[in-house]
Amino acid sequence: MAHHRITVLPGDGTGKEVSKEALNLLKTIEQHSPLSFEITEIPCGGEYYLETGEEWPSGSFEYCRDESDAILLGAIGWPGAIKPNGDLAGGQVILGLRSGLDLYANVRPIKLYKGIRHKIHGEFKQVWTPGLVDMTIIRENTEGLYQPLLSRSAHLARGEEYLGISDISIPGVEGEFAWDPRPISRLGSERVIRFSFELALQRNGCPSDGTTRVSCIDKSNVTRGCQLFRKIYHEISAEYPDIETDEAYIDAFTMWLVRQPEFYDVVVVPNMFGDIVTDLASSLQGGMGMAASANIGDQHMLFEPVHGSTPKRAGKGQVNPIAMLSSVQLMLEWLGRRKGDNDATIASNIIESAIEELIAIGNPLTYDLGGSSSTSEVSLAVCELVSKKLKLQYTSA
Ligand code: IPM
Ligand code: MN
Repeated sequence: MAHHRITVLPGDGTGKEVSKEALNLLKTIEQHSPLSFEITEIPCGGEYYLETGEEWPSGSFEYCRDESDAILLGAIGWPGAIKPNGDLAGGQVILGLRSGLDLYANVRPIKLYKGIRHKIHGEFKQVWTPGLVDMTIIRENTEGLYQPLLSRSAHLARGEEYLGISDISIPGVEGEFAWDPRPISRLGSERVIRFSFELALQRNGCPSDGTTRVSCIDKSNVTRGCQLFRKIYHEISAEYPDIETDEAYIDAFTMWLVRQPEFYDVVVVPNMFGDIVTDLASSLQGGMGMAASANIGDQHMLFEPVHGSTPKRAGKGQVNPIAMLSSVQLMLEWLGRRKGDNDATIASNIIESAIEELIAIGNPLTYDLGGSSSTSEVSLAVCELVSKKLKLQYTSA
């Protein structure tokens, strides 16, 4: 019987609420399929830091590294939860794991389901066409502008000292200043770009005409790091002659993304640009309540909704659980792929079709999609559809 060790890090605010629903979904799957999960929950994040002075219990990083097949994270970040040096409290969890476990590809699928209405000018309207928005953005996840904080967080998570880079002087800059280095390395670029080409081989191409394409998005007209990134993109694309290439600067890309999303299949982008552009891209699929992600490395993987802890909604049971339930779907997809577990693949497909069906029916939905139902009502509806589909799958098989 397939058995998976899942470590759940609920984190802050609404991250805790949606993590509870992820656990309900996993229970539903265990009840109706051959899959079984060994679940360990670890408290962590900014709120935990304010209560305890620690970002998570000691040994948590090692537990995630050594005792987990997959990690599921709610959200990190809480108002006022800042460390004395200015770092985000909870950074050890989200950034320490991304860096410390070498989760170099942040995979963010952008797919629009039929029935989604987009919130525009305070109203809900259907803007983009379902079927014409189906791309995966791959955000580089271990370097760029995040590198110093990523590396510092990973050192702290392992209980090691961090020797930061020393201060510098910059010609033309006088008086007090702050600066952020942005290292982009050959190794870091090669692995995430190759990952993107490999992922493109497993997809069905872009929605407009099925062309398999990897778009490289950067700012190589201005920054050295992006010039290296683009150069390596050219080198690696030569290894994949059947995959179409496409290049754009990040500023122009933000325009093309909303004007012709159907053109995009796989998009690879340096860290900070990827952070920004995936929030924008989520609006194509109905908002952050729909945006799921996978942080993938060669040895480890972590899954999380793209949204944050949403302090103003926290504790009210209002937020959309679908981003988290879709993150569970991605987790099962990757467990299926990496561990050759066909039941995990089946469960992943079933979660996706349940979410698709719920949205097509249009009820229950949360406020962000124009509904008025609660987090748990939506989650329960997904779980009911999932159990119905699993029963059908395993009794007719
Ligand atoms: C994300 C988040 C994180 C990031 C924060 C919480 C550090 O915005 O996953 O996109 O900036 O990467
Ligand atoms: Mn972000």
